Amino acid sequence: MKFANNVEKKAFDKLVKELPTLTEKRCHGYDELYGHKLLPGTYYDEAVAHALIYKFCKAYKFEYEAAASALCSTLNWRREFDPLSAAFSERHDETLTKIGVLTKYPNEEANKKVVTWNLYGDLAKQTHVFEDVNKFLRYRIGLMERSIGLLDFKDETNNYVAQVHDYDGVSMWRMDPKIKKCTKQVIAVFQEHYPELLSAKFFINVPSLLTWVYDVVKRFVNEDTRKKFVVLNDGTKLGQFLSSAPSKLYGGKSKDILQDQNVMDVRPTEYTLHLFQQKISADVE
Ligand code: HEM
Repeated sequence: MKFANNVEKKAFDKLVKELPTLTEKRCHGYDELYGHKLLPGTYYDEAVAHALIYKFCKAYKFEYEAAASALCSTLNWRREFDPLSAAFSERHDETLTKIGVLTKYPNEEANKKVVTWNLYGDLAKQTHVFEDVNKFLRYRIGLMERSIGLLDFKDETNNYVAQVHDYDGVSMWRMDPKIKKCTKQVIAVFQEHYPELLSAKFFINVPSLLTWVYDVVKRFVNEDTRKKFVVLNDGTKLGQFLSSAPSKLYGGKSKDILQDQNVMDVRPTEYTLHLFQQKISADVE
């Protein structure tokens, strides 16, 4: 964790100190973030908890009030939405699970070691999956949580994810309103509740004729996130940015095809398992 000056460090220290009171008064006591416990006790790892609190401080330019409100809002959202369940215990539409791939590249450059692939081009003609916004959202958030599960918050070279959107096969004259609605919601949730977790986002196989879609969608995205976007018409150029990607289709060095690189088994944290257990017990009672 790096602080540019004492003011930043003070804001961070204050948030750490105030967090027990904040969670109690403003978050119904909920202290779980991305599967990790933020308050001391069993399952608590101080280095991880501090790294996560730091992310909120950094995202809100170390302004204490803004960072504290954002963190509380995220904890409240997690308590209600239950993203851990979306990640580890729910079943999603097979059309969706087929187009989401998670890869782990230990030898890749810093913060591109975990990559989420969204093969959205394959969905262009299967718009039924966008019918129910909540269903899509639960699938997409589930994938995001599982990618975060592959990060290591004690390792500064692996505490951000990279994302790829492959739009191969997409052609459209106008944006389907259902797709637009889902897209807008996912973007809003990512911006609000997953700050400082994205290192780079690659949009590949985007036909030149569709750059207008980029212009439409990027309006929903804040400036800091936009700076991380790279648009490539030719998907095989991705390897120049992500050398561990498959050589086939993506121009990387790996001989494996993308589906062979897919990490299926992401382990929930011990705290996540504990929370699941608690929920089961409460349901039984
Ligand atoms: C974001 C789907 C076409 C550019 C998204 C998101 C979805 C989505 C669900 C939410 C963010 C995420 O899942 O990570 C689709 C579908 C398309 C399509 C189904 C067509 C079938 C395009 C095209 C472009 C584009 C042609 C042009 C480059 C973007 C941008 C974002 C986005 C810039 C914002 C990313 C972010 O804030 O993380 N898209 N998209 N999309 N899409 Fe698309």
